[in-house]
Amino acid sequence: MAQPDPPAQPVQQVQQVQPVQPSPDDHVVVLVGATGDLARRKLLPGLFHLATAGLMPKRYRIVGTAPAAEALDDAGFRAHARRAVEEFGRSRPEGRAWEEFEAALTFGAADDDAPEPLLEAVREAERVIGGSPRRLFHLAVPPVAFPSVVALLGRTGLARDARVIVEKPFGTDLESARALNAAVHAVFDESRVFRIDHFLGKEAVDNILALRFANGLFEPLWNRQHISHVQIDVPERIDIQGRAHFFEGTGTFRDMVVTHLFQLLGFVAMEPPVAFDAQSLRDEQVKVFRSMRPLDPAHVVRGQYTGYRAEAGVDPASDTETFVALRVEVDNWRWAGVPFHLRSGKALAEGRHVVTLGLREPVLRMFPFDARAAADGRGNELVVDFADPGSVTARFLAKEPGPSMRLAEVGMVFDYDGSFTADNALEAYEHLILQAMLGDQSLFTRSDGIERLWEVSAPLLEAPPPVRPYAPGSWGPDGIGELVAPYRWHLPDRG
Ligand code: BG6
Repeated sequence: MAQPDPPAQPVQQVQQVQPVQPSPDDHVVVLVGATGDLARRKLLPGLFHLATAGLMPKRYRIVGTAPAAEALDDAGFRAHARRAVEEFGRSRPEGRAWEEFEAALTFGAADDDAPEPLLEAVREAERVIGGSPRRLFHLAVPPVAFPSVVALLGRTGLARDARVIVEKPFGTDLESARALNAAVHAVFDESRVFRIDHFLGKEAVDNILALRFANGLFEPLWNRQHISHVQIDVPERIDIQGRAHFFEGTGTFRDMVVTHLFQLLGFVAMEPPVAFDAQSLRDEQVKVFRSMRPLDPAHVVRGQYTGYRAEAGVDPASDTETFVALRVEVDNWRWAGVPFHLRSGKALAEGRHVVTLGLREPVLRMFPFDARAAADGRGNELVVDFADPGSVTARFLAKEPGPSMRLAEVGMVFDYDGSFTADNALEAYEHLILQAMLGDQSLFTRSDGIERLWEVSAPLLEAPPPVRPYAPGSWGPDGIGELVAPYRWHLPDRG
């Protein structure tokens, strides 16, 4: 007799998913550093794109500010914004959309001893909007300027009930990170601070959460029983592009690893959050950081591309690294014994953003293995490519057609481009500015997380191994193969 189907298992609903995109409250957005590079390249074009996508608040004003020495009037700021959008934007500055956006732009200069034009511009913007709009300050200024800007916002009352977006770097070591956090917290409590790391705004980061926690296929594998090693690989083809002043004082470890790569690691390695909200996600991310062992300089390779010391503004004896590869250990029940290998550098062979989870080999081999496929373990991986818009590939071995049992490596690919229309995609900065206007801190880093990352970095910062030279266009210096042995770097892709 046929058995009746078992009753369907009810799906436990952790939290009601919101079906529609919520709209931010009315806002005055203040761009501090409005004449700078970041505002020009990312913020002004990004805000305009949000406006054309219908994602800005119903009523908003954008107030630009800078010291009086760089001040613009409203017309000058609008012309500046138009040039920025023309050069870097995805939407053309024309038509009604542009006219409306442009009309929302005003400028008010501010210096420590003369903040009145900014105060006046914010008051006027609030008057035009009416009601009680929110205030959001975006501090697009170098870290040295943070404390004085924050103090000015506190002193003048502008900070009252406002939110603040803070740009990286969040310090250069534990002591400076603590000082910076203290300066910010003297005026803004943590619930109003949005530390921006643009890597967390990439679609593929949210997709890691979807991949892991919305499917029955992947999460059961996501642990030390099934995964032997993890790689987070972000090589860049570009060199320092004339940013010697910034780079000499920073280096790749501080510029890329403490910020972007560690943040990705937090998402890849986290435990399932109890809910899809900021506190739960960030609690799990910080738990990963707390489980990280202090870095061992013996497991770090620092490199410098040949020719770096000859660049204008670089010390001819510079020890600054333009490349770093390292092993990170996450000492918790999920990951104990699984090495996380991180790599990033300038002037490398390719520009990529790739996370690879290497799966353990089956316990017994019963097939006459294709020697090439078996040799480097590539037929046994999950690869998440963070390129905007990105892809996820499961690489495995399959039987080649033919009379003999020959196995070959194949891939099951999910490609954003091929699966979805990219019309609604937001660039990382746009996504994060929108989240800040919505007051959602999920994709922003928390002060305790930042401080912990500097704490685990201390042994490396105190005793960095010497830099090793590498040729521009290569994959880095000698010694990076040994770092990951007995595994191999997933990149370069095999042709
Ligand atoms: C920035 C770094 O934060 O990120 C740059 O300061 C780096 O040095 C850049 O080139 C990389 O970002 P993306 O999104 O282009 O990979």
